[in-house]
Amino acid sequence: MSVAVEHAIPERDAGPISRLIDICRSERRTVLDHYSPEEEAEYIMNLGPRAAVFVARVGGEFAGFAGIAPRWDYSQRLKHCGEGGTWVMPEFRRRGVATALWRDGILPFCCEVGFRHVGHFVMAHNERAIAFYENLGFRICGRHDKLVDWDGELLDAVEMEMLLEADT
Ligand SMILES: CC(C)(COP(=O)(O)OP(=O)(O)OC[C@H]1O[C@@H](n2cnc3c(N)ncnc32)[C@H](O)[C@@H]1OP(=O)(O)O)[C@@H](O)C(=O)NCCC(=O)NCCS
Repeated sequence: MSVAVEHAIPERDAGPISRLIDICRSERRTVLDHYSPEEEAEYIMNLGPRAAVFVARVGGEFAGFAGIAPRWDYSQRLKHCGEGGTWVMPEFRRRGVATALWRDGILPFCCEVGFRHVGHFVMAHNERAIAFYENLGFRICGRHDKLVDWDGELLDAVEMEMLLEADT
């Protein structure tokens, strides 16, 4: 299956991204808030130079997206740290879409802007996402009890990290 990965285009991709976030919210697989297509378009248009949103298309159809941004912005000592996330349409899962998003989008971008440490939280019950990130080269580096407030229910999360060589 051929997966095309490219930078998100606000007018074209904000709607599908907004809908996919809502699907993953209903599955309890993302901590992202709800964003309307307009809010999502605004976010994409205002991405800083070290942040990006990539979309994957299969046969021209929107299949998923991934994002990357600086993880912390209060110290130059942490400027090599990025935070990423990945979301794939249910009907396109397990077909290499997320892997393509990282291989052809996120990882080359990390190299370009100097992210050498990529990390993020994943809810502990989200075993598929943990398996995906481990397959990509991430490892679990921490566990946090009751980190996520899911409408009053406090859920555990794991923290995952991957170190990148300068020439990855
Ligand atoms: C996690 C997610 C992004 C994976 O996307 P995907 O396109 O299905 O992943 P890929 O097809 O590239 O999977 C690559 C490898 O990761 C592992 N993997 C992916 N999904 C898996 C699953 N459900 N169970 C076990 N391993 C899995 C496998 O090793 C897989 O290789 P294989 O299919 O050859 O065995 C997708 O399931 C998703 O969007 N989930 C909902 C949102 C989410 O949880 N995002 C992450 C938290 S922000």
